[in-house]
Amino acid sequence: MGQFKSYKILTVGLVFLVLVLCFMMPWPEPMIHWLPQPSTVPEYVSESIDWDSLPQELPNLTSLLYWPPTGEDRDDFLASTSPRTSTYCLKGPAHTTFTLGSNLEAILVARDHRGRAKVHGGDLFRAQLLGPELRAGVPGEVKDLKNGTYLLSFPLLWAGRAQVQVRLIHSSEAVRVLQRVWREKRATVDFRGYFRGTDGPLETVICNVDPQSTGAKGPTCQYKDVVSGESWFCAQPSTLPCNALVGHSSGSYLKVTTSHDEALLAGNVTDQKLPSGVPPILVLPATQGNMSNMGQKLTKLVYSVLRLEPRASNIIALPSRPPCSPGHLSPKPSGFYYQDRWHSTFCSSRSFPTVDSILNCLAGRIVYMLGDSTLRQWWEYLRDTVPSLKPVDLHVTYQVGPLMAVETTRGTVLHWRAHSWPLRSLRTPVASLHSVARELHGLAGGPYTVVVLGIGAHFTTFPPSIFARRLVGIRAAVKALLDHEPSTLVIIKLANTGYKSVYGSDWLTLQVNRLLRAAFVGLRVAFVDAWEMTSTLNVPDNIHPRKLIVRNEVELFLSFICST
Ligand SMILES: *[C@@H]1O[C@H](CO)[C@@H](O)[C@H](O)[C@H]1NC(C)=O
Ligand SMILES: *[C@@H]1O[C@H](CO)[C@@H](O)[C@H](O)[C@H]1NC(C)=O
Ligand SMILES: *[C@@H]1O[C@H](CO)[C@@H](O)[C@H](O)[C@H]1NC(C)=O
Ligand SMILES: *[C@@H]1O[C@H](CO)[C@@H](O)[C@H](O)[C@H]1NC(C)=O
Repeated sequence: MGQFKSYKILTVGLVFLVLVLCFMMPWPEPMIHWLPQPSTVPEYVSESIDWDSLPQELPNLTSLLYWPPTGEDRDDFLASTSPRTSTYCLKGPAHTTFTLGSNLEAILVARDHRGRAKVHGGDLFRAQLLGPELRAGVPGEVKDLKNGTYLLSFPLLWAGRAQVQVRLIHSSEAVRVLQRVWREKRATVDFRGYFRGTDGPLETVICNVDPQSTGAKGPTCQYKDVVSGESWFCAQPSTLPCNALVGHSSGSYLKVTTSHDEALLAGNVTDQKLPSGVPPILVLPATQGNMSNMGQKLTKLVYSVLRLEPRASNIIALPSRPPCSPGHLSPKPSGFYYQDRWHSTFCSSRSFPTVDSILNCLAGRIVYMLGDSTLRQWWEYLRDTVPSLKPVDLHVTYQVGPLMAVETTRGTVLHWRAHSWPLRSLRTPVASLHSVARELHGLAGGPYTVVVLGIGAHFTTFPPSIFARRLVGIRAAVKALLDHEPSTLVIIKLANTGYKSVYGSDWLTLQVNRLLRAAFVGLRVAFVDAWEMTSTLNVPDNIHPRKLIVRNEVELFLSFICST
């Protein structure tokens, strides 16, 4: 206990404010329904893939993407899990004291709309411990006990008030819909390819990740990147040759669900709080804080449960952590918010409160960000935060890039460009779509080169094998870069939360992140777990998270560049 004396522990009845919420975010773009060809089993699942360069986990998608059984298909909405009737309570006795750094555990019982306890697992719940006054939050672990009950576990990392919040993101029945569509449909969206002839004729066709999903009755055009092996297909235009492809854009969202599926995915309750009528739990340390004492000792500090004393806050349980460096898989939770700042649990993440601190960190560096719009937010954040980091107007399609910002006095260059197909975007020149693997092969690397990859969100509309194959090429390129120049810093931004539909959903993103983690096992890369960072504050879900979250993502990224 070091210099901390023992304190009298006052216990009061401990109760939870039970909030089971289900925010449903509408799919933001209009959907054009188009009836697909009768689907057959996609050959891509079994097609031979060069897995040699991959870690053991990735080849067996079945075991990597394991999800507990979700029960049997029944056309009965009222038998699906309901956030109104599901409840949870503290595991163990209600009169308890807590130790800073220990875990709070709760048992959740899932029930259907008729109030009957579920007998199988497979629901996707999201649990958080929130400290509203301290602007604090930590993701809870949800363990599926596979019999309709779930064990919730929350690390107690700050002193002060906290309340548990649990949301049903998708019932197991909705997860089953997602699983079925993800496994069986070759694609749930399509794309447009724009062809132009020399004397001006234009043709538009459907393009996709495999020939069948182009809807072509006749031959298809295949576009294969010789470096990365990535392929793209378009229905062959009737008058123009395959090499006349000049433009690309998103196409339609395909109709892949029944109305019953849609009801399950939409749930039946939004923002529904369980009736509770009790105050949030009060957790409070029995001592005044001294920030310089933060460290191992504090993990023994006892929380007492009593009245709120604001002065007693400002204590967080952080063990001594090494500087942030690549090469570690981040633990769960990978961090928590406290006073709006994300604190990593596994490395000493820093804050960059001034423009100068950011500039000093980026001085002399060239940063390549390759990915989707959630990574473009990092570029935008830096552009907007650092006035001397001037964007260069390259007259390009902003959605796709390449975007560039430069700071000439300190010598900083910040690039962003979209990953290639299957990017959903406004119409863009095909020549602007560069394969991530190919871009990586074109980098010399070195101690002043920082590479950030942020991919995943545009791969939820295809079977997992499509993303897995893409990752094979990207892993090989990252490995080659690190082999040639081990001092190159490579950072992987995991996909974040936001969507709740069959085309993009937190459940699908969770799977995509498993693939991402597995693909980079054994390589000296750093991860920014944007999934956790976007699901730990009490704010509405948004695939493009608010500035506060982006700031914390960027500060963690900067912590890997400037660890001390
Ligand atoms: C993949 O994993 C599953 C589940 O663990 C197992 O049943 C299957 O045999 C594995 N397949 C291969 C090819 O190793
Ligand atoms: C569910 O499984 C857990 C762990 O096996 C067990 O402790 C619990 O009693 C079970 N609950 C029910 C309702 O069957
Ligand atoms: C939604 O829930 C209410 C009450 O639980 C039920 O009466 C209603 O039929 C449900 N709606 C649908 C679409 O099933
Ligand atoms: C905090 O603790 C450190 C080391 O134990 C001590 O030197 C310092 O005086 C303390 N500060 C306050 C405000 O108590």
